Amino acid sequence: MKAPRKLKIAVLISGRGSNMGALARACMNPQFPAEIVMVLSNRPHVAGLDLAREHNLPIRVVDHKDYETRGDHEAAITEVLESAGVELICMAGYMRILEDGFISRWRGQLINIHPSLLPSFRGVNTHERALERGVRIHGCTVHFVNAELDGGPIVAQAAVPVMPHDNADMLSARVLEMEHKLYPKALELIATKRVRWSGDDAQLAVDIAAGEILFWSGF
Ligand code: GAR
Repeated sequence: MKAPRKLKIAVLISGRGSNMGALARACMNPQFPAEIVMVLSNRPHVAGLDLAREHNLPIRVVDHKDYETRGDHEAAITEVLESAGVELICMAGYMRILEDGFISRWRGQLINIHPSLLPSFRGVNTHERALERGVRIHGCTVHFVNAELDGGPIVAQAAVPVMPHDNADMLSARVLEMEHKLYPKALELIATKRVRWSGDDAQLAVDIAAGEILFWSGF
């Protein structure tokens, strides 16, 4: 079978990098329609960079502490990504709030994985808050990024049950397992243009050009 044209992606990380690892494993398949041309971290000594090295992926550190303003830091990131010909940015545990300038530069080319079923539990500590709130179903979301925190158009979601005696670590582990399945699938849908952002911020701004299941269940 002829290998597909591969979308050039960068994975932005700030820590452990297990979602980056899941994307890297998917990209090892010659038929997978995307390739990681860069793993970029804003922190210099994180486990995710070691994992990227194990996968022989090009890495770059653009340390936010080296820049006076958030805008300067993000301009440096854009320069690095542009020089590598990046077509899509996948944020995978990238824990910095992005400014509007960066978001509009990469509009429609910037996706994120978030550990909740958006629009519930935007922001941090999602598993703790899900437990506090007593939800019975929790999960993760891959979405395009817009100026609203965790608010862009949803690409795909995966659901897991919340068990009666769960603590945040147990729930987090159950969600993470689904994140590792969901992110490569969502990336594949985007790279093959079966899902794309039609350009506005409405909730249903994702065009589905071919029937595809955008929902996964860990039940
Ligand atoms: C993941 O659970 C990801 O969904 C979350 O951070 C974790 C990173 O793990 N992202 C966010 O909370 C973004 N708001 P990883 O570094 O092992 O992929």
